[in-house]
Formats: sequence, structure tokens, C-alpha cells
Amino acid sequence: KKYTAIILAAGQGKRMLAGRNKQFLKIGDQPLICHTLSVFDQDEWCEELIIVTNERERSQMEELLKKYPLRQSVHLVDGGAERQDSVFAGLEAVRNRELPVFIHDGARPFVPQELLHELSVTAYEKKAALLAVPVTDTIKQKSDHGLDTLDRSTLWAAQTPQAFSYDLIYEAHERARKSRYYGTDDASLVERLDKDVAIVKGSYDNIKLTTPEDLHKAQAYLSNQRNGKVE
Ligand code: CTP
Ligand code: MG
Repeated sequence: KKYTAIILAAGQGKRMLAGRNKQFLKIGDQPLICHTLSVFDQDEWCEELIIVTNERERSQMEELLKKYPLRQSVHLVDGGAERQDSVFAGLEAVRNRELPVFIHDGARPFVPQELLHELSVTAYEKKAALLAVPVTDTIKQKSDHGLDTLDRSTLWAAQTPQAFSYDLIYEAHERARKSRYYGTDDASLVERLDKDVAIVKGSYDNIKLTTPEDLHKAQAYLSNQRNGKVE
């Protein structure tokens, strides 16, 4: 059940307020992006690894890959202005278009390997799948009419990786580009084509490091892991 992985690292990390791209911030003994890359690097099913990086940070990324070498060779691709543009750049660089393609945020370093396998099996079966977890907060919707409470039992928080057959996700991106539609994830572009997307239940550990608070959570997760408290 081999797959291609596109890892997105071309953002600016503005909400992290670190003054530089959060991908390069150290958590534990390695920069954030290295934690993420190593999960895929160590997965036998990952056949091709593509990193989408900011043009201005390409040499910084190359240095990092020398300092923290991976087992497999990686392909560096320049990203775009929005996340969706970066994904498209990654898709264009894929060599083997027969394999499902995983699209993953570089800012999610703790995705468990067994979930990658579950997702891959589902992607082969269903052509489109994502990791998501049941929403734990009660979600309110505010509009001109006032406040509503959404039915939590139907709500899922989308994560990455999201996995698709290559042709399907390429078509979804092409159509979105033509109509200048920007979605907040890749599955939403497939949903626009009225195609089903399967949910694989993710892990609450698979957080996206977005704000400074998330760095503290990540440090805590790593030190618990080192002390054997977390699997
Ligand atoms: N990303 C990307 N290209 C962009 C924007 C985002 O590759 N033009 C990547 C980020 O590097 C990140 C992932 O998409 O790994 C998820 O995006 P997000 O968490 O929003 O990261 P940033 O855009 O970097 O952060 P912010 O929105 O706070 O600036
Ligand atoms: Mg962003």
C-alpha cells in the first residue's frame, strides 16, 4: 500500500509570533519540520517524499536536510502564496501518479504511523480520505439572526494527512484554480466535485502547531514520550 507524501512547509507561521517560519523552531532536539519528516521517512509505505518550501528558505531547508539526514531522498519544491498554491506545486512535482498522494502539514509532527497505514488502505479503497477527530467543544454559530448551537455529534475536526488518488485531487485543484476558489483544506476541493471523502478517525495527539501555546504542548508531549508515559 505505497503512497507519495507531500509535506507543506512553505508558510510563514505568522500566528506563532516567532519572527520566522515555525517549521525551523526547535522542539526537543530537532526542528519542527524534521520531526514531521521523520515519521514519513521511517514509514516503509512512503515511496516518494516531497517537501514544499518557501523559495527564500530553500537553502535553509537544504542545510537542515544535511544536518538531520533522512533515509530516503527528498524532492524540494517551491511553494506558493496560499497553502492551496503550495499543494498544487507539490502535486505537479509527483513522479509516480499511480500511487495515492498524502498531503500533510509540516506543522503536524505527531501523526502516528499506524494511522498513516489506515489512511493508505482507505485511500486505495475509497479514493479520498482524511484523518479527523470528533469535536470536543460545543460549537456555536453566530449570525445576524443570533446564536445557534450545532449538533456536536455530527462535527469532526479535520486534520492531515488527507489522502487521494492522484487524478482526483489533481482535478479538484485544477477546478478550484479555474474558479479561483480557495478552500481551507484539500478534502473540501474534492467535496466541491460532489465526491465522497471517507473519514479515518485520527488522534488528538496529531495537533497542528499554530500558536505559541502549541509549542508548550509539543514540548510536553515529547518529554512524556521520552519518559515512556505516552506510546
Ligand atoms: N503552508 C504552505 N504554503 C503556504 C501556507 C501554508 O506550505 N503558502 C503550510 C504551512 O507551512 C503549514 C501548513 O501549510 O505547515 C498549515 O498551515 P498553517 O498552520 O496556517 O501554517 P502557516 O501558514 O505557516 O501559519 P500562519 O497561518 O499562522 O501564518
Ligand atoms: Mg496559514
